[in-house]
Amino acid sequence: MSKIIVLSASAHQNLVEIAQKRGHNIRVIDPDNLYLMLSDSNGHDRIYEKTDRIALKDVDAIIPRIGKNLNYGLAVVNHFVNNLGIYSTSSADGLRTASDKFWTSQKLSEARIKIPKTIFAKKPDHVDFLIDKVGGLPAVAKTLTGSQGAGVSIFETPLSANTTMQTFYKLDADVHLQQYLEAKGKDIRAIVIDDQVIVAMERTANKGDFRANLGAGGSGRKIDLTEAVKDMAIRAAQSVGLGSFAGVDLVRANDTTYCIEINGNPGTKVIDITGVNYNENLIDMVEKYTGKKGNESGSKANFLSKAGSYLSEKVFGNKSQTPPPPSKRNELAQRFDREFSHYASNQWYAKEYPQIKQAFLDFWGEELEKGEETFMNIESCFFEHNLIMFRMDLKKQGLKFFDKY
Ligand SMILES: Nc1ncnc2c1ncn2[C@@H]1O[C@H](COP(=O)(O)OP(=O)(O)O)[C@@H](O)[C@H]1O
Ligand SMILES: [Mg+2]
Repeated sequence: MSKIIVLSASAHQNLVEIAQKRGHNIRVIDPDNLYLMLSDSNGHDRIYEKTDRIALKDVDAIIPRIGKNLNYGLAVVNHFVNNLGIYSTSSADGLRTASDKFWTSQKLSEARIKIPKTIFAKKPDHVDFLIDKVGGLPAVAKTLTGSQGAGVSIFETPLSANTTMQTFYKLDADVHLQQYLEAKGKDIRAIVIDDQVIVAMERTANKGDFRANLGAGGSGRKIDLTEAVKDMAIRAAQSVGLGSFAGVDLVRANDTTYCIEINGNPGTKVIDITGVNYNENLIDMVEKYTGKKGNESGSKANFLSKAGSYLSEKVFGNKSQTPPPPSKRNELAQRFDREFSHYASNQWYAKEYPQIKQAFLDFWGEELEKGEETFMNIESCFFEHNLIMFRMDLKKQGLKFFDKY
């Protein structure tokens, strides 16, 4: 069972029900009700819900679903992840980047993902030039933040473009201009979770609008994406650091697919429209990374807590985790034993050895297949971890270990 906190000011009833049905302990907390404490003694940072401390043992994962007060919400995410070491389904950096449309487009362009021509200017001094750069009128103007179509407008005449740009400037609203894509009011929303496209829908704008957002009156239907478009959506999400969870907006025009936006807090209407409940995939991902299934403690969780997340991180970093093919499993298991069975009698691993071995085979099979180098890495991590345990044990007994170690 995982203990999950959803960070949100809204209820997320469906997500809560799904997690509970699968045997997890889940609750929704409005991040505004949390206090973040940095200690003057390193390693003792804390988080409080009102005046009650949230203990580390009471949280395995957070699922940020932050709509309002993003700045504070992201400080909360950072605190859980960086200061307390809790797993999160989204990174604060990714959510920050996605919250700014121009910043997102910069990342997309940097990652060589197709976007419409886009230009950002503070001053409305050369509006004709700016419009020319994005391919002439009509052109789309977007405020940096905003969702559900709010803040997205279209310029059709030079006069409206000039006067509206001046108004935005006077109001101190930063806007960027974008090439208008002839998409007949259609766009695509793809949900990416754990570096995979889970579901996609095509949205069609309300009559008389070009914005296909459901919140702006559009309608949707489930569609299948080609492998190439799926790959693009995944890379787009990854480019802003949200390959773990994002809603990616794509537009088809001129026989080309463009990425126009990444949403770090995508809506749930896609679930009703397509019948594919991506909340299940979110919980799958939480289970995978905490190693805790609904009704059992999970071999990876044991491995991580007992043998140290240190060990796994050091060996594998964020590499993908897959079991080896069944045909190889035996051979790798035997090799693992050959190299490490002496740890089976080690005082720190005696009990956990079978679980550690299983965790490696289940989660890092692909790495094990690489052979020598991986095995050497594991060996040195076992060794280092052993040393840490040894020092901790001495400390418990009130003894000091030689400083140089
Ligand atoms: N450059 C563009 N050309 C044509 N239509 C666009 C363009 N950019 C956005 N749209 C339409 O407007 C909608 C809203 O734009 P988007 O950038 O996704 O902002 P929001 O955050 O409000 O969803 C899109 O779903 C799409 O239908
Ligand atoms: Mg959008």
